[in-house]
Amino acid sequence: MSTYQKFTERMQKIADISHASALLQWDQEVYMPPKSARRRAQQLSTLAGMAHEMFTNDETGKLLESLAATNLSEIEKANVLNAKDEYEKNKKVPTEFVEKTSVAVSRAFQSWDKAKKAKDFSIFAPDLEALLELKLQECEYLGYEDHPYNAQLDIYEKNMTVAKLEVMFGQVKEQLFPFIEKIYKAPQVSDELMFQDYDRDKQWAYGIEFLQQMGYDMDAGRQDVSSHPFTTNFSATDVRVTTRINDQDLSEMLWSTIHEGGHALYEQGLKDDYYGLPTGSYLTLGIHESQSRLWENNVGRSLNFWQGNFGRLQEIFPKQLSKYTAEDFFKAMNKVQPSPIRTNADELTYHFHILIRYEIEKELFERKLQVKDLKEKWNAMYKKYLNWEVKDDAEGVLQDIHWSHGSFGYFPTYSIGSFYAAQFYHQAVQDVHGLETGIQAKDSSKLLQWLREKIHQHGKLYTADELCKRVTGEVLNFDYFMQYAVQKYATIYAL
Ligand code: CO
Repeated sequence: MSTYQKFTERMQKIADISHASALLQWDQEVYMPPKSARRRAQQLSTLAGMAHEMFTNDETGKLLESLAATNLSEIEKANVLNAKDEYEKNKKVPTEFVEKTSVAVSRAFQSWDKAKKAKDFSIFAPDLEALLELKLQECEYLGYEDHPYNAQLDIYEKNMTVAKLEVMFGQVKEQLFPFIEKIYKAPQVSDELMFQDYDRDKQWAYGIEFLQQMGYDMDAGRQDVSSHPFTTNFSATDVRVTTRINDQDLSEMLWSTIHEGGHALYEQGLKDDYYGLPTGSYLTLGIHESQSRLWENNVGRSLNFWQGNFGRLQEIFPKQLSKYTAEDFFKAMNKVQPSPIRTNADELTYHFHILIRYEIEKELFERKLQVKDLKEKWNAMYKKYLNWEVKDDAEGVLQDIHWSHGSFGYFPTYSIGSFYAAQFYHQAVQDVHGLETGIQAKDSSKLLQWLREKIHQHGKLYTADELCKRVTGEVLNFDYFMQYAVQKYATIYAL
């Protein structure tokens, strides 16, 4: 067996453990009975420790070292270099620390859940504080330049830094903020049609139909219901999505289904031959999010798409929708308004929800802000950026699951993803003849084919900057999002 084959085998075994753990996590959020929480935390911690131990074992180091000196193909080289980078990063963090963090995460998740139900941040605060201390310690293990938060950002979006985000969110503040103000002053659109009685079972069936229309392979995945929709995968041949259904609000199911569907298409489009290897896994979370946002916003919230699809929706919900047109539906789904909940926000004010979290996290990692003052800070920021008076902790500081998972530095990838999505979609329209007429005729296969070829199949072969340059000729550029927003919302609000 060649050294490269030995390396592949080892990487696949580590992936087997990680995916077994992902399956337990999926179950935890979809089916697990509540009494199982404590043992499940123990099981997840054991597996996290095993995977970490196996990956950081000297055996892996030796394999990587001897491979560095051999002649490798471009793909093999990318796998070895990426693995080496991860290896060195993981090696800096002791296994006991990984296990300790895993236990702290499980504890924080339980208390966050309790706190959210009770609408009381003080229930969650002590566990969050303990978890944040571990994360601050993790920054020291990992090392960083300029800012400790950079160590966290890099976990989700390789090479992302506070310096780059300052520029990006600076553009959001300078350009998007005044544009939204202009929208508020224009005659408003109505979104009433979304809030009617929409039968759950009919919504569920339409969601499945929707996924299949997008090109999601039901034989390589499944859909379930969970309170926080997510996508997970155990290989490219088992990619699962969850959705949520609100029988008084059609938009929740629609946007979560198409969003998670976009994530899932990316995972299903990775090469199964490279299972367990960097080129068989997603590039960064920003790129991952670009896939969900592209389907959700650029496709799913376009007039074009609903000119083809609204008829079918009217067939399913005639009483609710027959008096409306595709254009009414398009306007309703794009209503811009301040709101307290990130996941329900329109695609413009959305970025202020992210900006708030980014600024808070940055201060937490500078130790400028303490957990005990977090709630007041949160409420003040919502007032400042969204002119929203937060009414309780559940709709405020407790709304997101991320901090209870120990995920700091994750939120910015949502904005990054939206901005990549606008840039990619702009390019797809240039590259593919008949792309938009296809979408209008309920056929998005050309778009999927383009995404598969340009983005999905490469995994981690290139860096995000390289990939973006190869696909669009330049690195991430906020202008594409702004152009898209101005064009789209100018029609909706007759600006
Ligand atoms: Co997403």
